[in-house]
Amino acid sequence: MRVGVGILGGGTVGGTLARKLLDDHEVIASKSGVELALVKVAVRDMAKPRAFPAEYATDDLESVVDDPSVKLVVELMGGLEPARSLVLRALAQGKAVVTANKELVAADGPELFQEAASHGVSLLFEAAVGGGIPLIRPLSESLAGERLTRVLGIVNGTTNFILSAMDSEGRDYADVLEEAQRLGYAEADPTADVGGGDAAAKAAILAALAFGVWVGGDGVYREGITEIQTDDIEFGRRLGYCIKLLAVGEDTPAGVAVRVHPAMVPLDHPLASVRGAHNAVFVEGPAVGDLLFMGPGAGGDPTATAVLGDVIDAARELLAGTQVVPRIQFGAGRLAEFEQVLSQFYIRLEVADAPGVLAQIAGVFGDHGVSIRSVWQEGRGGAATLLLVTHEATEGDQQAALDAIRSLDTVRQVAAAIRVIGS
Ligand SMILES: NC(=O)c1ccc[n+]([C@@H]2O[C@H](COP(=O)([O-])OP(=O)(O)OC[C@H]3O[C@@H](n4cnc5c(N)ncnc54)[C@H](OP(=O)(O)O)[C@@H]3O)[C@@H](O)[C@H]2O)c1
Repeated sequence: MRVGVGILGGGTVGGTLARKLLDDHEVIASKSGVELALVKVAVRDMAKPRAFPAEYATDDLESVVDDPSVKLVVELMGGLEPARSLVLRALAQGKAVVTANKELVAADGPELFQEAASHGVSLLFEAAVGGGIPLIRPLSESLAGERLTRVLGIVNGTTNFILSAMDSEGRDYADVLEEAQRLGYAEADPTADVGGGDAAAKAAILAALAFGVWVGGDGVYREGITEIQTDDIEFGRRLGYCIKLLAVGEDTPAGVAVRVHPAMVPLDHPLASVRGAHNAVFVEGPAVGDLLFMGPGAGGDPTATAVLGDVIDAARELLAGTQVVPRIQFGAGRLAEFEQVLSQFYIRLEVADAPGVLAQIAGVFGDHGVSIRSVWQEGRGGAATLLLVTHEATEGDQQAALDAIRSLDTVRQVAAAIRVIGS
C-alpha cells in the first residue's frame, strides 16, 4: 500500500531524504512493507540546484500540506514559523508529521503533541536530538518503563568539535571557533551553539522523554563554552578530567533538574572519549544500568536516515489505521529549584602567595557548608594559582561561597568555576 509523502524543506536533510525516497524506493518497500511515494518538496528558492529532480520542487508550502495525495508531512525547514503553523495545519487534517526541528519541539511540544493526539496521528522527531543516532525511540519505547535517574548528553557537535580541538592542540577558543566556521562545523553566527541554546532545546526534549516532565527549552539553565580557557583544559587533565559541554537531566530528591553547562568529565567516563563533532548520550537507570548512545549528531545522510525511519514508522501506523498515543509526555512534574541542585565544582583561583591564604579560603567555603575534596597550589613569585575541587553541595551554597571568595582581599580573581560530573 502506498503512502504519499510531502516534504517541507529541500536543503541538507530534506534534499537528502527526497533523494533517498526516490533512489531507495524498492529497498524501502521490500524491507519495511510500506511503499513511500514522494509527492512534492517545498523550498524557498526555486532557482537553487537540488539533490532531487526539479519537477518535485514547489515554493508553495501550503499546497504540499493540503495536497490530498500527501498523507504524511515531513517538516525539514527549521525555525519556529512558518514550520509551527504548517505542522499544526497538517495534523488538523489528520496527516502524520515527522520533524527534525528541536527548536520547534522544545518551544511548542505540548501544543503540537496535543493536536497530534486529538487526531490520533503520529508526530515523530527522532532526528531532533542526536541527528543520526537512534535515541528518541529507545528512550520513548524500549526504556518507557524504566525509572531513569540521569541522562548526560554531548548533544552539540559544534561545541564538542571546539572543545576537542582546544584539548588536543592546546589552541584557544577564538582560534578554534574561527577554524570551525571555516570548515563549516560552526555557523557564521555561532551563538545558539556556543551559548548552549541548541543544547538546552535538546536537554528539554531528553528530560521530557526520560522523566515525563516538561521544562521547555527556555526553562533550562544554561552556560555555554565561551569562557573556557586552555589553562583549565590543561589543569583539568592533570586532575583526571576533560571538559565537555553537557546536557544534564537528573531525577533528584529535590525534583527533576535540567541544565546545560560545561563540565569536568572524568577521563575514564565513556563520554570523555567522544571527540570531534560526534554526539553521545549516556543514560542511567537502576534496572537497566548504564547505556551509551553514540554517533553522528548531524549531516545530511545520517539525519535523513533517522528521519526516514520515522517516516516508515508513521506510514505503518497510518496503514494500520490505529489511533496513535504520543510517545512523549509533558507532565507538570516536580522541577527542582536550581539553587537546590547538588553540584561539585572545580575552581581556579588566582591568589596572593602569602601564609594563611589557603586556610582563609577553606574557612569561607566551610562557612557556606561546602567542603573541599582536593587542593593543588602552584606559586609564582608573589602570586599563586590555587585549584580546588569541592565535594557536592547545593548550587545556592556553592555560588554564595564563590561570591564571598571574590570579595576577599587575598583573592585576585576567581578565574574559573566549572562543574564536575561524578562517574
Ligand atoms: N543539517 C543537519 O545535520 C541536521 C541535524 C539534525 C537536525 N536538523 C534539523 O533539520 C531541519 C532542517 O535542517 P537543514 O540542515 O536541512 O536546513 P537547510 O539546509 O537550511 O534547509 C532548510 C530548507 O527549508 C527551506 N525553507 C526554509 N524556510 C522556508 C520558507 N519560509 N519557505 C520555503 N522553504 C523554506 C529552505 O529552502 P531553500 O533551500 O530554498 O533556502 C531549505 O530547502 C532543521 O530543523 C534542523 O535543526 C538538521
